[in-house]
Amino acid sequence: MRRESSIHGQWSSKLVFVLAATGSAVGLGNIWRFPYIAGENGGGAFVLIYLACILLIGLPIMMAEIALGRRGRQSPINTMATLSREEGLHRAWGFVGWLGVAAGFIILSYYSVIAGWSLSYVFRAAGGAFTGLDADGVRGMFNALVSDPERLLAWHTLFMIMNVLVVARGVRSGLEKAVKFLMPALFGLLLLLVGYSMSQGHFMEGVSFLFKPDWSEVSGDTILLAMGQAFFTLSLGMGAIMIYGSYLSSKASILKTSATVVSADTAVALLAGLAIFPIVFASGLAPGEGPGLIFITLPMAFAEMPGGLIFGTLFFLLLVTAAWTSSISLMEPAVAWLAENRGFDRPMAAVIVGGIAWFLGLGTILSFSLWSNPIGFSLTIGGEATFIGGTLFEMADYLTSNIMLPLGGLLIALFVGWRMTQRSVEDELDLRSRVLFRAWYYVLRFAAPIGILLVFLKAVNLI
Ligand code: TRP
Repeated sequence: MRRESSIHGQWSSKLVFVLAATGSAVGLGNIWRFPYIAGENGGGAFVLIYLACILLIGLPIMMAEIALGRRGRQSPINTMATLSREEGLHRAWGFVGWLGVAAGFIILSYYSVIAGWSLSYVFRAAGGAFTGLDADGVRGMFNALVSDPERLLAWHTLFMIMNVLVVARGVRSGLEKAVKFLMPALFGLLLLLVGYSMSQGHFMEGVSFLFKPDWSEVSGDTILLAMGQAFFTLSLGMGAIMIYGSYLSSKASILKTSATVVSADTAVALLAGLAIFPIVFASGLAPGEGPGLIFITLPMAFAEMPGGLIFGTLFFLLLVTAAWTSSISLMEPAVAWLAENRGFDRPMAAVIVGGIAWFLGLGTILSFSLWSNPIGFSLTIGGEATFIGGTLFEMADYLTSNIMLPLGGLLIALFVGWRMTQRSVEDELDLRSRVLFRAWYYVLRFAAPIGILLVFLKAVNLI
């Protein structure tokens, strides 16, 4: 059965889908999260495992998600329910959609707070606040921001309103146009920053940190974090790409569009790493600085380079835009469901979803000040006490990226690889080459799910 369109509308072209999906994928995950997680986990080995996950798990699952979305043409919850019915499967598969909606709320709640940091940095850059600051100075400025809950609340609220405004209007008007200009501009500015980093004398140190693996540093948790980053950065496992796929024309090639999105996303992450780590080493900072990494390193570069005021302002502006085109995709699955099942119009649905995520975001805001003491419990395994827990922000990030998204991805791989009939899958994917189909199907059925399971088992020290 082939539904030609969704009640929510359709992308005006294949190119727009690619831009929107790239807009979803490229965001804080590439420029903020990737460098700081790689930095905290020793660099090289982490990066290589991340790249392997992108290729072996991310790409095939992205294709599966798009295929599901396009076949179901509804919110992920209803797509999963409808397709299960069509394929004669248990309706419990709808759980995949619910898991995704839950993950979307939690991710959006803290994503908006970090996007708020970026917003505030636009104004700092434009106002020349970085001029003359050294490493301690920029760190002080960052700490002053995050320890001020009222200021964070204002930026978080502003960013959430920006999201609600776009999502309320529907994905087609407004966003399509913005993405076309902003993504290439962001790419150009990153290249400029990499150029600046190259001129700073510590470039090769940055390169070898990013790409030279030290396998002795790798633990089960490192692998889990690398896989989680792959899911996060590609927007996979929660239905965002699935719903974007539901607005895609039946004629577009799923393989080509996915490959483009994955390549662009990976390129942006690696460029961000190449821009940031040389500055880290040139200024004697530690790569494991944590979530503040880019907010501490990049201002130093902008303070020194000619034209830094303009480039700095532009950079943070583009970072906000990249975050914006990502966070709307975090809202879309829940908004579409509210419209389909609860009869809300889009503006109302967007306000509800934005409101819930806004409220949850208060936990992240306080995680950097009043609630900065980690909560959790100690577990003693083999005589060694391990602390499980963290701040609310850390727990929200860990739970979603490293557990909920890979779990969602695993279920999607199993559904498409093992439960749907091969005929339906082939029909939807519509790959002209048999060999390519076979290769993809094999990876989706075996490599991806087994990979995810092994990483899970390794992370809890069972293997
Ligand atoms: N991929 C985006 C980033 O890298 C964040 C994002 C958007 C996301 N939609 C998602 C992450 C869905 C997980 C799931 O910034």
